Amino acid sequence: MGIINRANWIKGALKLGKDAPTNTSAIVWTSVVSDVATDTGLDFTKTFVCKSGVKKAELQISALGIYEATLNGARIGDFIFAPGWTCNEKRVQYQSYDVTEQLKNENNLTVTLGRGWRYLGKNPEIITNGFSNKDMALIAVLELEYEDGTKELITTDKTWLVAESKIRYSNLYNGDIYDAGFIPEGSVPAIEINHTKDILIPQQGEKIVETERLPAKELMNTPAGETVIDFGQNLTGYVEFKIRGKKGDKATVQHAEVLDKDGNFYTENLRSAKQEIIFICDGEEHVYKPALSFQGFRYIKLVNWPESVNLSDFTAIVVHSDMKRTGHFECSDRDINQLYKNIVWGQRGNFLDVPTDCPQRDERLGWTGDAQVFVRTASYNFDVEKFFTKWLADLAADQCENGSVPHVIPDVLDKQGGSAAWGDAAIICPWQMYLTYANKEILAAQFDSMKKWLDFIQSRSKNFIWNKGDHFGDWLNLEKDAGNKEADKKLIATAFAAYSTALFVKVGNLLGKDMQEYELLRDNYKAAFCKKYIKHGKVVGNTQTACVLALYFDLTDEKEAVAAQLEGLVKKHGHLTTGFVGAPYLLHVLTANGYVKTAYDLLFRKEYPSWLYPIGLGATTIWERWNGIWPDGTMADKGMNSFNHYAYGAVGDWLYGTMGGINTDENAPGFKHIIFKPIPDERLDYVKASVLSRHGEVKAEWQRVDGQVKYTFTVPQGCTGTATVDGEVTELSAGVTEL
Ligand code: BGC
Repeated sequence: MGIINRANWIKGALKLGKDAPTNTSAIVWTSVVSDVATDTGLDFTKTFVCKSGVKKAELQISALGIYEATLNGARIGDFIFAPGWTCNEKRVQYQSYDVTEQLKNENNLTVTLGRGWRYLGKNPEIITNGFSNKDMALIAVLELEYEDGTKELITTDKTWLVAESKIRYSNLYNGDIYDAGFIPEGSVPAIEINHTKDILIPQQGEKIVETERLPAKELMNTPAGETVIDFGQNLTGYVEFKIRGKKGDKATVQHAEVLDKDGNFYTENLRSAKQEIIFICDGEEHVYKPALSFQGFRYIKLVNWPESVNLSDFTAIVVHSDMKRTGHFECSDRDINQLYKNIVWGQRGNFLDVPTDCPQRDERLGWTGDAQVFVRTASYNFDVEKFFTKWLADLAADQCENGSVPHVIPDVLDKQGGSAAWGDAAIICPWQMYLTYANKEILAAQFDSMKKWLDFIQSRSKNFIWNKGDHFGDWLNLEKDAGNKEADKKLIATAFAAYSTALFVKVGNLLGKDMQEYELLRDNYKAAFCKKYIKHGKVVGNTQTACVLALYFDLTDEKEAVAAQLEGLVKKHGHLTTGFVGAPYLLHVLTANGYVKTAYDLLFRKEYPSWLYPIGLGATTIWERWNGIWPDGTMADKGMNSFNHYAYGAVGDWLYGTMGGINTDENAPGFKHIIFKPIPDERLDYVKASVLSRHGEVKAEWQRVDGQVKYTFTVPQGCTGTATVDGEVTELSAGVTEL
């Protein structure tokens, strides 16, 4: 059930930020420093009386930290964890709300602040007059427009009062402690801090919202005697619960993704993240949900619950970026349908303002490599154009002077970066925005960042082999387990250098730039790759991923031989051995080179390792590792074992593109021209795929009728398509065509 309320979300004229008119210079950042612990939620309050005849009241507001604002007791807007997460030393979004309806004669505007993502991973440092990068700050302006045309501004300044809130502690990873009976000893006037407003930008991404409420499914008493509730779905968000206990009763809600092999609550994979909510009762009944933290979970464990547990008192609330769902996929195989659902849930769990690796352990960061491998699938499932526009702007803002792209964006790892396939997000992600949405502006906006990244690669290369730097390689691949050495990291790096340069040439040509230098560079990388890494029609090292990259990135003229090598490796092992880098393209290159059945065999495989193996163990999201849980229920790893990591969900674009048959055309992007290429498999009776493009719904469906496959293609108005079915090509115009 959607619970989105867009009522008071508006696009106001600029009053904050560097482009704001000078008459708003009185608006300042306010904060408290020193004696208040920054882990405590802070309530900033302003009371004011307004004259009668207010025509319109508009609030513009932002924070260093995260805020939740109320006017006269009612929440303003529905943005969760506003103002969102950007590289907040350089860019902080502000939001505009129409609050006319909430206004009274006497008013109380209260804004609760929590630390949120503020300066995650940074060392404490004073920025200005006693204010440190760990302290939270608020900036706001309420503009009252009267019927007689006059205006009044209520701005953050030292007339605001600040008190500790009932949220006694909040931490994104550890959760909240809420004391219902807490009454602050008093409040202090806010201090004005001389912090730049130039970092403020109008809301650029999607807001984060509550998107669904899931009832509790089952109450369990585990073998270890724990009281556990199962919501039936691994998700990101928080639990709303009803609670009543004696004053001082302390109830705890812990969160976990999985149970261990004995059926007990399992939290070791969370590493240091506690993700628990502690509620301190005051004798009254409360319905509570955390305001300043989120959790990744399917199960909750209740500790010291004051009364008997009633399942209907617990609801899981799903929280993520407000992306419109655009893609759908269904086929006659139940397990593949579950895989598709898990891919969608993986995206919902990790597109929380930033494309994160995972939502549960002490990480939850915008890992560039993960975003890069998943971006195409992501852009079919949901409209992620705004989402990536914002994140890519952060990528450019946080990119190092020398062009290195930090491993995570926003960069909280102090400039660690420069890995092949991770940093290439700088080029691959905007290029996908062009393919899916025909967005040329994003190519122009990111052009310099792309160029910087390629210049960085060049500075790390010798004779067009990217031979310096630390690379993640084919992260979490299985070559070693299969008795082989994993793909050479320099080979992978050089392959990406060639591919990214090739994409950059296309981008430059589209923008009308002179790209001769980069055309030459592209050819040089390719030639160097061929010379060093392809011997007698085989990619050196004999790994699946190396073959996959050589083929997908068009780095060999000996395609047939390399494809046969890849097929041979799949047959030899009987399964995939690819990690994050090779897996997304594996089925694509097998298909493109005539090994469609092998591709389907890999997809249909149920044993470890495969995409369907976790489905057999009841997975409801995509796992980080092929071997997250062994068949006997034991965990493969403690430190690196997330059960909600979308990277391997990148296979989703093969479901849309080959099973369904929907593909973009780079010569007419945004589905202006659609390349339909469905390839049925005898193990399937039907497939239905659709993507809602900017022009309307693109659909590809096929089903077996009396032993024959019947195809139906839908082309939106104003678009065209080319369908290739059993080797026969048909040109399609707008409308529905059956073949
Ligand atoms: C993350 C990955 C990421 C990787 C870098 C991990 O800790 O969870 O998804 O890409 O580090 O190799």
